[in-house]
Amino acid sequence: MKIGCPTEIKPQEFRVGMTPDAAREAVNHGHQALIQKGAGLGAGFTDEDYIAAGAMILDTAEEIFANADMIVKVKEPQAVERKMLREGQLLFTYLHLAPDPAQTHDLLASGCTAIAYETVTDASGGLPLLAPMSEVAGRLAPQVGAWTLQKANGGRGILMGGVPGVAPARVVVIGGGVVGTHAAKIAAGMGADVTILDRSLPRLKYLDDVFGRDFKNQYATAGATAELVREADMVIGAVLIPGAEAPKLVSRAMLSDMKPGAALVDVAIDQGGCFETSRATTHADPIYEVDGIMHYCVANMPGAVARTSTQALGNATLPFMLSLADKGWRQACEDDPHLLNGLNVHAGKLTYYAVGKALGLDVISPTLALKS
Ligand SMILES: NC(=O)c1ccc[n+]([C@@H]2O[C@H](COP(=O)([O-])OP(=O)(O)OC[C@H]3O[C@@H](n4cnc5c(N)ncnc54)[C@H](O)[C@@H]3O)[C@@H](O)[C@H]2O)c1
Repeated sequence: MKIGCPTEIKPQEFRVGMTPDAAREAVNHGHQALIQKGAGLGAGFTDEDYIAAGAMILDTAEEIFANADMIVKVKEPQAVERKMLREGQLLFTYLHLAPDPAQTHDLLASGCTAIAYETVTDASGGLPLLAPMSEVAGRLAPQVGAWTLQKANGGRGILMGGVPGVAPARVVVIGGGVVGTHAAKIAAGMGADVTILDRSLPRLKYLDDVFGRDFKNQYATAGATAELVREADMVIGAVLIPGAEAPKLVSRAMLSDMKPGAALVDVAIDQGGCFETSRATTHADPIYEVDGIMHYCVANMPGAVARTSTQALGNATLPFMLSLADKGWRQACEDDPHLLNGLNVHAGKLTYYAVGKALGLDVISPTLALKS
């Protein structure tokens, strides 16, 4: 199969859909890896790295789309890219179709088969192609929070780990899922005094068993949250209610009870944010102040560490990409129901119910699509 990887063109996107390592694996499996000139530069991969891996460099996105049987990307195809998709072509990338009728329309009109990273599942009920980005954002949160706490950035002037004789920063993480657990691990590793809050008792039991010595955990009642937030130097928002807007767990009124210069890092900002005063920011201008409290609310945090993010995403997508290339999408999806869950569009038909429901469009079952 010819697997094509164009340069990402969405603003501020520095990741790339295929690493040189993934290209080498594809070539070892007997496929051709076609990489657009300069596609990997944002993530620190040169054309020479790809050539050494056995890939072929093509000058333009037009050539990639015209020649490839499967397109592997990071972000959803932009309007100009959607015009280049064709009937029978396979697209494997993040799509997030439910809030995006224009993209959905164009993908249906193209006749392509589109498998969305974000709806591929795993045996434990998780989302294996979303998890790596949550791991990255979670581990990044204490790092950017620590920077926000520095005096020159408007923060309290507190060092995460303190020093002998001086107490460390108090960090509260709301939500103990993938983001929250990784955030708590790193904050604790930096020497902070960390407490994680969650509403799921099984999750709290897990956190207690595995990390009981590294950080504390507490059930997330409104009272416990208010008390911990009042004493915190840094609060990391990491809740998720699947398919819903994030609940507002820290109100504006609560800010006046907090320590001046404390930092709020709202990782859940991509779902609307879990602090009332959160509004999405960018890497170019990441922090702002409300009532003396510093807010960091970047909606695409993994973009700050494009190389790590690309490698983490590449590790997760590789087995699926190889399976799609080795067997063709039909056989690969027939053999793996979790990959079939990723199928969103096939030959002008939607195959993912939640997207159809959100957009008021007809849907056919993915198993029917396999036969068509
Ligand atoms: N900003 C970014 O760049 C970025 C990157 C990756 C993920 N995210 C976002 O981070 C958020 C968390 O993602 P995740 O992968 O960790 O999700 P997850 O499902 O693994 O974890 C969410 C946790 O929140 C808990 N929770 C739900 N409601 C709660 C409440 N009221 N109080 C306390 N805990 C509550 C759940 O029990 C669960 O353990 C999501 O909104 C995700 O989209 C943002």
